[in-house]
Amino acid sequence: MCGIVGYVGKHKAAPFIIEGLKRLEYRGYDSAGVAVLQDGGFTVAKKIGRVANLEVEAAKIKLNGNYGIGHTRWATHGGVTDANAHPHISSDGQIAMIHNGVIENYSKIKKFLLEKGYTFKSETDTEVLCNLVAYHYAKEPVSADESRFVSAVRKSLRHAEGTYGIVIMALDAPGELVTARKGSPLILGIGDGESIVASDVAAIVSRTQSVVYLKDNEVAHLTPKDFTITTLEAGEVTPVIDKVNWSIEDSEMGNYAHFMEKEIFEQPTALENAMRGRFAEDGSTAQFGGLNISPNEFRQIDRFMFCACGTALHACMVTEHQIERFARLPVECDYASEFRYRNIPLFRNTLFFVMSQSGETIDTLAAMREAKRKGYKVLAINNVVGSTIAREADGGIYQHVGPEVGVASTKAFTSQLLIGAMLALYIGRMRDLSFGAGQRYVTALKSSPDLVRKALLQAPHIKEIAKRYAHYTDMLFLGRLSLFPIALEGALKLKEISYIHAEGYPAAEMKHGPIALISEKCPSVFLAPNGEILNKIVSSMQEIKARKGKIIAIITEGVELPEGLADETIVVPDCHEAVLPIVYSVPVQLLSYYIAVERGCDVDKPRNLAKSVTVE
Ligand code: M6R
Repeated sequence: MCGIVGYVGKHKAAPFIIEGLKRLEYRGYDSAGVAVLQDGGFTVAKKIGRVANLEVEAAKIKLNGNYGIGHTRWATHGGVTDANAHPHISSDGQIAMIHNGVIENYSKIKKFLLEKGYTFKSETDTEVLCNLVAYHYAKEPVSADESRFVSAVRKSLRHAEGTYGIVIMALDAPGELVTARKGSPLILGIGDGESIVASDVAAIVSRTQSVVYLKDNEVAHLTPKDFTITTLEAGEVTPVIDKVNWSIEDSEMGNYAHFMEKEIFEQPTALENAMRGRFAEDGSTAQFGGLNISPNEFRQIDRFMFCACGTALHACMVTEHQIERFARLPVECDYASEFRYRNIPLFRNTLFFVMSQSGETIDTLAAMREAKRKGYKVLAINNVVGSTIAREADGGIYQHVGPEVGVASTKAFTSQLLIGAMLALYIGRMRDLSFGAGQRYVTALKSSPDLVRKALLQAPHIKEIAKRYAHYTDMLFLGRLSLFPIALEGALKLKEISYIHAEGYPAAEMKHGPIALISEKCPSVFLAPNGEILNKIVSSMQEIKARKGKIIAIITEGVELPEGLADETIVVPDCHEAVLPIVYSVPVQLLSYYIAVERGCDVDKPRNLAKSVTVE
């Protein structure tokens, strides 16, 4: 949460920073601000609302300096006001700071600083940390062997409990930025005569593809031509410079109305990228390069535990179904936020997986650390290369779908489903799944991009349905077996971008409670593929119809429902059950998307949400 950009270099800082903030806006969009060091002082512009508001504000003042910091906020401490927006300036005017995270002991520090004569203009924990740095900076002797600035930051951070990704400027240190992280991502961009720091590579790639991923408890000192990294305890760090393969076009919207729309339509290509090079030559199983666990070790595993949050958890639940179905091994899934505190018994041969698009979700990270602390190997299924989860995992599988900008996860979700299905195949082929069954499974997975292309052809039809259903305030999504998590996902998508109350349920479970909600005011979306329990699903539909509930039925080709049962029908291609959840994701995503558009909602920046949730 919160987008961060800092710049020192040969160009003007403000235009680059504001451009970067626009690319990071999906991380938080309550307010935005920029501070530039120029003419012997900090010039600050900040405004509640979107970066566009900041741009208007910034245009009113001259921001000429070459050194600056900028921020988009997702509020934690203090309401959404101009005063609470970042950057914050210390009351002695010496230090400017932007921050992502939460300083848990801020009230204790604030009390101390008030006694020392520091004053505060905002309700934020960030302003407290900013003044703490000013306090140590003022006391810090000038020494020949270390920057006074870095030393003051280190001393301050030793007193700060909680999480932070911070970037700081000091008034009498023009051309220098100090940045540090604990729990909140920060990436350094190493350019030609310029240095950048950002919370996300999207803000860096227009200038350089050479990056350094800062680790927890590291402090970096940046100048236009150089950078050094040390630990919080002043230990030396040898930086590793990585190359990012995302281009600037990957994070642009092109001709689409929203990133969510673009990312829904990118899914065939995303699936192709997620599969590339991952099938064995004989076409009967999957192969993964980065698992860091030998087939022999894998064969000892007799149970899997999956943890994730939100949409990624739904992908885990589908994977649970696939592994149990095709590899015949037990799987448990849990909310990452619950796992950490449940202290559930794990058995010796359990393999632990986490799934996370961003790789920065703090609850997932905490669950992973807890599993590691208990001595388990943890593998990660993750999209953002170099993310904290990817770096801390013992091994894993990258999704390779490029940047996902829309807050509502779509292409990352279907690629997680695909990778989960490939994993089930990989494990299944080590056990009872025959060569022939493996080949059929691989053929099915390879056909998933085309099946999704076909499902996407339903978009105009779904758009029309959305117009008729956008005014409802409640909706149910009902599915069974591997499509039950897709029902949950459909309900989550609708809730988060259209603010319609929606519930996902196993279709037959509906009669044990949710049926009480049914009336002409609460439509149900049924996921009703061809298969052995279609008749049972049809019975559930009849129960809804008998209570005047409207029905949107998503069926596979060839299914014939009783005359007049469904009010609306969406047809998707019939396919192998390993691919079915991927194909069914498309109409539920499109339905939510078009309903949200019809209601005039801000699809890519839904209220109260942020793309990656880095606070507990
Ligand atoms: O980056 P992650 O996959 O760890 O994110 C997990 C959830 O926060 C995320 O899936 C969230 O539920 C999305 N907004 C869903 O569209």
